[in-house]
Amino acid sequence: MTRVAVVGQGKLGFPVAAYLAHRGAQVMGIDVDQDIVETINRGESPVPSEPGASDHVRELVASGALRATSDYAEAIPGADVVVVLVPLLARDGAPDFTVLDAAVAETARHIAGGTLVVFETTLPVGATRERFTPALRSVSSDVLVAYSPERVSSNRVWRDLETYPKLIGGVDDPSARAAADFYRDHLTAEVWVLASSETAELAKLAETTYRDLNIAFANELAKFADEWSVDVTEVIDAANSQPYSHIHRPGVGVGGHCIPHYPHLLQASTQGSPLIAVARGINEEMPEWVVRRIEKEVGPLAGTSVHLLGASYRGGVKEAASSPAHALVACLRARGADVGVSDPYFTPAELRRLGLPPGTGDGAEVIVLVTDHRRYRAIDWRRYAPALIVDGRGVLDRREVEAAGCRYLGVGR
Ligand SMILES: NC(=O)c1ccc[n+]([C@@H]2O[C@H](COP(=O)([O-])OP(=O)(O)OC[C@H]3O[C@@H](n4cnc5c(N)ncnc54)[C@H](O)[C@@H]3O)[C@@H](O)[C@H]2O)c1
Repeated sequence: MTRVAVVGQGKLGFPVAAYLAHRGAQVMGIDVDQDIVETINRGESPVPSEPGASDHVRELVASGALRATSDYAEAIPGADVVVVLVPLLARDGAPDFTVLDAAVAETARHIAGGTLVVFETTLPVGATRERFTPALRSVSSDVLVAYSPERVSSNRVWRDLETYPKLIGGVDDPSARAAADFYRDHLTAEVWVLASSETAELAKLAETTYRDLNIAFANELAKFADEWSVDVTEVIDAANSQPYSHIHRPGVGVGGHCIPHYPHLLQASTQGSPLIAVARGINEEMPEWVVRRIEKEVGPLAGTSVHLLGASYRGGVKEAASSPAHALVACLRARGADVGVSDPYFTPAELRRLGLPPGTGDGAEVIVLVTDHRRYRAIDWRRYAPALIVDGRGVLDRREVEAAGCRYLGVGR
């Protein structure tokens, strides 16, 4: 039985640890947060929104397959494999390695020769080999080191782990082989061994940056569609009927932990690309563009009551990191609008803690759909009539909104 230590028991580390235990490994989760450690050891999930991991945690802990600790000395010496899933922070677009460096230093203090360390955190190109391998091999030169990006999305980690090919790049052949053997033994998904850790690092940054570029193009198309009073959704669907066209959807803004941040990591790892910088700028500007578009419909916004539906950056999750709701609130307040926010996943107190002013939307003159939460599709828009409904995600039916006595404005439709 493979003994695995998973460093970081957050939104990703915990479900990954539980999955590996479910697939037969003997897993010890490591986290500096004592509450998380105690929660896991009680057989409870520190990430309740994660199906699979939350359903199985009790039995995994009861059987001894999964445990947690905050003590590296307890977890690392006996581990065959160490999976690192603590965040790389970004400050003003530049990588901040503080958390990762601390985790690597603690791991290196206790590691034995022959142990495999796999970094799953998204990293700038070259970090696995140049930054972390020397520290890990300072104790024993036969520590094996590989990079294998975590490509899954929160709230569906187990499903994605079973679906997406697992990419692996070693710093040398023995490391790549050891990582491939480990993942082949514990995942049902395909395992792809790439030429090097740099190849795998660049592949992860490529897939996320591609999405940012694609959305930026969709946002530009939305502006063209707006100029010509055509529906951008119809345009994109028609364009994508040609098999080489894969245009994403425009929207009020790109949020989350990944897409807004990883293009900066790619820029920081390379000589930089004007294309990537321009795309990022276009996406960052979307909340401002939407607010200007609202002004065109209703006039100056000073004193206008505007309500945002959704604080999460994507539908179905309680996660407001880099959500466009923050930028929208700032743009609207700068114009003197009276702004409120609601989201079924957040209490008013939680919204307040995020810096978002809670509200109900009652009597608002403008309603902006920020998040594609499923339940918003069932709203009876008569409750907001005669407000202007701004469909920031392109998911509402214009006729339904208008039949309810409201006006409709989409992003390019
Ligand atoms: N969240 C996602 O949807 C997602 C998707 C794909 C990849 N990722 C990758 O996963 C990484 C981790 O993301 P997350 O969402 O799990 O972060 P998170 O903030 O939810 O969890 C990080 C955990 O690490 C712990 N930690 C901090 N310093 C530590 C240390 N020195 N030793 C041990 N534990 C420590 C924290 O207490 C926290 O519990 C991201 O940086 C990203 O590269 C995340």
